[in-house]
Amino acid sequence: MKQATLTLLTNKALTPDVYEMRLAGADRPVPGSFLEIGLDGFFLKRPFGAAGYKDGVLTVYYRVVGAGTEAMTRLSSGAKLEALTMLGTGFNYKGSTRPLIVSGGLGIAPLKYLADCFHEAGVRPAFVAGFRCRSDAILIDELSKICDLFVTTDDGSLGYHGNAVEFLKQNPVAFDRYFACGPEPMLRGMQRFSVNGQLSLEARMGCGFGACMGCSITTVSGFKRVCKEGPVFDAGEVIFDAR
Ligand SMILES: Cc1cc2nc3c(=O)[nH]c(=O)nc-3n(C[C@H](O)[C@H](O)[C@H](O)COP(=O)(O)OP(=O)(O)OC[C@H]3O[C@@H](n4cnc5c(N)ncnc54)[C@H](O)[C@@H]3O)c2cc1C
Ligand code: FES
Repeated sequence: MKQATLTLLTNKALTPDVYEMRLAGADRPVPGSFLEIGLDGFFLKRPFGAAGYKDGVLTVYYRVVGAGTEAMTRLSSGAKLEALTMLGTGFNYKGSTRPLIVSGGLGIAPLKYLADCFHEAGVRPAFVAGFRCRSDAILIDELSKICDLFVTTDDGSLGYHGNAVEFLKQNPVAFDRYFACGPEPMLRGMQRFSVNGQLSLEARMGCGFGACMGCSITTVSGFKRVCKEGPVFDAGEVIFDAR
């Protein structure tokens, strides 16, 4: 964990409710780790996955779901944000030569950064990116340059008609390890599909750095904290039904 004052460089809408923030002042994060952003008037910081890092600039993608993220949309370039960076345990991806990356919705954010890291290591992953519909599909052009990309939409408006797990069942993709992030039903589906992978989970957070136990989940080896031992867990480790 590292405390940092980040400077907002840009904050732009990619879709009506998804924004991209570019921030200066953070160290290079591990893929799958997250940061907590402090906002004026809000007691709790808000957690977001590290979605990119280039030339000292950290990228975050966020969906507007409540008062905190709504306030973030009003921040302008030059704003100073108090943050805790380098939080959590990220993906164990080194050594994977045939990675399969699977996203649902905005779960694509931390996985975009993972794909960048594979690209830097000379590895071209297979990437199945699931969205609700065409207008939600972000980062497609960027990812198709560095991945073998398959897009799915629930309504069939772009790519395969169905979700990412259904796609994989009907279109086998060779892989040595998978990396998934998305809504819980999708992660449950990935766990049933194969335990040879890692799942990035979300939980309501209090402190964000391991002190309050507020984000604990049940695993095969007892309670674990999403903010400390996670957010990335081995797929076979998580007991979803206990949540
Ligand atoms: C490790 C981690 C990484 C995350 N990465 C991203 C990211 O890259 N991009 C992104 O848009 N969001 C991400 N989130 C979720 C994000 O933190 C919340 O959407 C945000 O804090 C909501 O703040 P708010 O004040 O706008 O909403 P609130 O007013 O606090 O809540 C609005 C609604 O969102 C739900 N909600 C809020 N926080 C969470 C949560 N942690 N998990 C599930 N539901 C929640 C609430 O139940 C409520 O229904 C991440 C969460 C975690 C734990
Ligand atoms: S949020 Fe406090 S321990 Fe995880």
